Amino acid sequence: MSKTYLVTGGAGFIGSNFIHYLLKKHQDILLVNVDKLTYAGNLENLASVMDDKRHVFAQADICDKDAMEKLFDLYDFDYVVNFAAESHVDRSIKDPDVFARTNVMGTVNLLNLAKKHWLIGEDTYKPGVKFQQVSTDEVYGALGSEGFFTETTPLSPHSPYSASKASADLFVQAYGDTYKLPLNITRCSNNYGPYQFPEKLIPLMINNCLTKKQLPVYGDGMQVRDWLYVEDHCRAIDLVLSKGRPGEVYNVGGHNERPNVFIVKSIIDYVHDSIDPSVSEALIKHVVDRKGHDRRYGIDPQKIKDELGWEPETMFEDGIKLTIRWYLEHREWMEHVTSGSYQKYYEQMYANR
Ligand code: NAD
Ligand code: DAU
Repeated sequence: MSKTYLVTGGAGFIGSNFIHYLLKKHQDILLVNVDKLTYAGNLENLASVMDDKRHVFAQADICDKDAMEKLFDLYDFDYVVNFAAESHVDRSIKDPDVFARTNVMGTVNLLNLAKKHWLIGEDTYKPGVKFQQVSTDEVYGALGSEGFFTETTPLSPHSPYSASKASADLFVQAYGDTYKLPLNITRCSNNYGPYQFPEKLIPLMINNCLTKKQLPVYGDGMQVRDWLYVEDHCRAIDLVLSKGRPGEVYNVGGHNERPNVFIVKSIIDYVHDSIDPSVSEALIKHVVDRKGHDRRYGIDPQKIKDELGWEPETMFEDGIKLTIRWYLEHREWMEHVTSGSYQKYYEQMYANR
């Protein structure tokens, strides 16, 4: 049956991958993509679907009550998938305020609008609707060398970014508990793949290798992250939307834990062997560590596997090669991002119509 989605943050990394994924997978859908186009939003990520009638783009801030209300009035949404966020931990350490605004207040604004527009009676909502909050494993804090985060691990965020995401999760859960709003929260580990802004570890290291710049590794580089190819995350969100039990949290991860320095060396090795033999570990530079740096994240994805049959399909060794090849084949995309010209794409595109 045809579904109308509000996808927020759809011009960012995971949001744009999700839009591509849904448009390929489902014929009969309408995706209303709302993005403020902060530094992290890039409509070039969506160039191939900007003329697709099933995708409508609206530039708006999720905190803007009037603008968002107009969209809820105009479209009869079945699903809200909330990707929109400030997403970079280092930026949150320098400037936390915008993280509280967008990640917390923006989410509360969307919850209020979903509740208002979907409620049809006392604690009763339009059939089939769902609010999905795209959250992160960082809300659980850090692990020692043993154990994994499960859905019942207490929230213990450390950075301003993860504190804002945990706050948003608590609001989402509160709207489920108090108002019975149908919802899910997914908490995913580190994503990598096409269209990721090169402030994040993997695209930064790929770009620096391809342009032979230094590779800044924070501290000893032995911090562990649990890496997931972005398409696997998109498939998990799609599945949770349609089949997840309302009110439930689902952890998404693939048992792909790697120390940061291993990631950096894997990229160097691939670029050295397949692209440029002059690239070597001499480019690595250990720099001052991130403040409050979480030592290890590791997701236990058993619940989503048992309940929904989800498992990652792309192993890290394949995903990292696909990703490096993608950045190599999209040097223009990277050039536009690093020069800042991507931010003019929207104006140019509309000027040409
Ligand atoms: P991103 O920074 O690449 O994209 C965020 C998008 O949100 C951008 O397009 C930006 O313009 C938009 N945005 C920011 N503020 C907005 C506002 N006020 N109103 C409307 N749009 C706004 O982030 P990402 O890596 O794609 O992450 C997407 C979501 O997934 C985030 O909620 C993040 O917390 C979560 N997440 C990310 C990862 C990861 O590894 N990248 C892992 C788990 C969860
Ligand atoms: O775990 C999920 C989270 O993953 C998401 O919620 C966040 O939105 C996303 O940004 C990501 O957070 P991280 O802080 O883990 O990602 P980042 O790519 O910034 O850093 C990954 C690791 O690499 C981290 O331990 C810090 C380290 N690092 C990062 C950069 C940018 C470096 O050593 N050098 C660097 O230059």
